[in-house]
Parts: sequence; structure tokens; C-alpha cells
Amino acid sequence: MKDFSFYAPTQVVFGAKSEEKIPQLIKRYGGTKVLIHYGGKSAEKSGLLPEIKQRLTDAGIPFLTLGGVVPNPRLSKAKEGIELCRKEGIDFILAVGGGSVIDSSKCMALGVPYEGDVWDFYAGKAQASACLPLAAVLTIPAAGSEMSGGSVITKDEGELKWSYDDNLCRCKFAIMNPIRTYTLPAYQTACGITDIMMHTMERYFSHEEMGITDALSIALLRAVRQYGPQVLENPEDYYLRSQIMWAGSLAHNDLTGCGTIGDWATHNMEHELSALYGVAHGAGLAALWCHWAGYVMDEGMARFARFAREVLDVTEEDDTAAANKGISRMRNFYRSIGMPASIPELIGRKATKEELLLMAEKCSRNGSITNGNFKKLAYEDVLKIYTAANK
Ligand code: NZQ
Ligand code: ZN
Repeated sequence: MKDFSFYAPTQVVFGAKSEEKIPQLIKRYGGTKVLIHYGGKSAEKSGLLPEIKQRLTDAGIPFLTLGGVVPNPRLSKAKEGIELCRKEGIDFILAVGGGSVIDSSKCMALGVPYEGDVWDFYAGKAQASACLPLAAVLTIPAAGSEMSGGSVITKDEGELKWSYDDNLCRCKFAIMNPIRTYTLPAYQTACGITDIMMHTMERYFSHEEMGITDALSIALLRAVRQYGPQVLENPEDYYLRSQIMWAGSLAHNDLTGCGTIGDWATHNMEHELSALYGVAHGAGLAALWCHWAGYVMDEGMARFARFAREVLDVTEEDDTAAANKGISRMRNFYRSIGMPASIPELIGRKATKEELLLMAEKCSRNGSITNGNFKKLAYEDVLKIYTAANK
């Protein structure tokens, strides 16, 4: 077990009427002029955005709006927001949406007080010393950004999708009303289910033992495996939507990583897929995980066997047989919820050789870094996994 520091300061307000608390919470956390940041049309169409504007107006809180965040959010949009915040004296950012909107908000919140280029943080050239306060009104359980310290931004030139992790930019509060997720298309719901499970699996596949953390991870994975398919059948079931929504935050607020060392190779490799093809992050993860697992399982067969038995109810006694059965069950699970289990299933064709080489180069930063911890993956390993996923 490794030493750890656990910090999850976000105030979660969960429930069908949680939006009522937005004005008082903004004031409590020091907001006097707010930028409401959002994505495409979904929040407007559902009535959420008009409702929030009305609540802020009624409470006498001045605000501006900035929409147009796209999935796999762009640095250019965040920079537009940084300029706007500076010009208008914004002191609080309210993200209304999912991981993309929250991450764009974090990038803006980091950029406003910083004199240099906000990309410096994502490029590993600087660490932030200040961040505007921000909060989230979550509309899709998936990325877990509402409670995480991370944000993932794509630089428009070169399609570089890089992340920055910093406790400074954790949301002050997160409003979670499961009813707001009823409008999610089945595909987005399934992407969310996949991402939630992956955030736990990335941490679970570690060579460190940590009984409490492992027990929490297994419980969370079993619950999402059960409730995920049920919510796809019953998209307007409050109880089921609630379970998935809370699982999304618990899976990525670091609770399931205490005392272990996460892997994150599948995430890093996926970021190249979503950067190159613009695919949804969760779908990209599903396309890669089984191929990553097949490639690295020899490093810790007992861990894969335990995962297969305790999460996927595999009964094989031999570890290798159990591990293989577990991977095959995950593949079937992905397909059963409408997720791809390979790159061709993800993008509708095989990736070209050039594309595979480009992704492997970008992921390993031209061979200068390794990815993952369960097995440290050099450039050649990453290329082999992309190639295996391309069959
Ligand atoms: O733009 P709108 O119109 O709002 O539509 C969105 C978007 O098209 C739609 N949507 C959201 N809520 C909806 C809805 N449609 C109907 N009803 C609703 N209630 O869903 C689409 C996807 O939204 P997005 O925010 O992109 O999804 P997600 O939450 O999966 O975020 C993905 C981004 O988060 C990053 C990913 O890489 C990707 O860029 N991640 C961020 C992490 C973090 N900050 O900690 C960790 C993750 O591993 C992940 O990498
Ligand atoms: Zn993820």
C-alpha cells in the first residue's frame, strides 16, 4: 500500500430540486459576477439554461453566458472565455454540462489569473498558483470532472489532447439532478457508463494491494455493471439515473485510488483516438480496453483473475482461464450496451497504418515517455495495442 493524500473538497448537492441552491452557493463561494459556460443545444432545449438564468436574475447576481463548447473541448474556446472574463470582471464560472464544459471552464479559470499562455499548464511547462472559483451543474454522468482535479483540453493546432491535474481547480460545488440526465441519448449514456467503469478500472489495475480501496472499487464496478444496462432500458427511472450519476463522481474523485498507483494507459491512448477522430471519449475507451488487457495481463494474472471473478462472476479456478474469460465478458458487455470493442467498430473502418503510427508517436511523445504503470508501455507497445485493436 502506498502513502496517499486524499482531497475531495467539492460540495455535492444531489437531488431533484438541487438547482434551487445555485444562487446561494455562488454567493457563499464568493461569486459576484458569473460566467455561465455551456456546450451545444442540450441545456437550452431541456430548459435548464433558461431556469438557471432566471434564478440568478431573481437573486440579483449579474451574469454573462458563453456557449459553444464542443465534445473534446478546444483551447481556442477557452481562450475566448479567458478574454471575456478579464474584460467583464467575472469572478465565478458556472459550468452547465458534462466533462467537456467543465474542463473548458477549468481551463478558463486557470487562465484568467495567469499571465502566460494557459496551455503552459497542459504542456507541463508551468504549475498554477491561482484559479478562479468554479462550480458545475452536471448534465451527463461520465467524465467525473465535477469532483476531479483534472481537465483535458485539445489544442487546435496539431490536435494535441493533453491533461492538467491540480487541486486548485476542483469545483466548489456540484449540482446533480438525475432528472436532467433523462434526455441523454442512449449512446451518450453508454459512453458515460464505460468511462465511469474505466475510471475505477484504471485505478484497480495496480500491483499495490489496498483492501478498503479494492473493496470499494469492486462494489462500484458491480453496481455500474448492474445499473448501467437497466438505465438504458429505463432512461426515465429516477433511481437508476441517480445510481449512475453518483457512481460517476465516486469513480473519479480519487476515492478508488487511495493507496494504489493507477495505470491510465488506456486513457492516454484513447485521448489520441478522440483527438484524431473526434469520437466520444467513453466509446474510445471501450474500443481499446480489451486489447490493452490482453497485452498486459501477464504482468499480474492474479489481479485480472480477481477482477473477472469478483466483478464479472467468472468461476474458472485457473487464473489465466479466469482472466481471459473476464476480458471476453467485458468485450460482450461493451457490445451489449452499444459500445464498440475495436477501432473499426468505433470509426466504421480500419485505421490506416499512418494513423496508427501517428497516434503511437503522439501518445509516447515521440518515444520520450512511457504510458501506464501496470506494465510500462514504450512506443512499440503502444503501437502493438493500437494494431491489435484495429483488427
Ligand atoms: O453540447 P451539448 O448540446 O450539451 O451536448 C452534449 C454533448 O454532445 C451531450 N449532453 C450532455 N448532457 C446532456 C446531453 N444531451 C442530452 N441531454 C443531456 N442532459 O452529450 C455530449 C457529450 O458531452 P461531453 O461533455 O463531451 O461528455 P463527457 O462528460 O463524457 O465529457 C467528455 C470529455 O471529458 C474528458 C474527455 O476526454 C472528453 O474530452 N475527460 C475529463 C476528465 C476529467 N476532467 O477529469 C476525465 C475523463 O477521463 C475524460 O478524459
Ligand atoms: Zn475517462
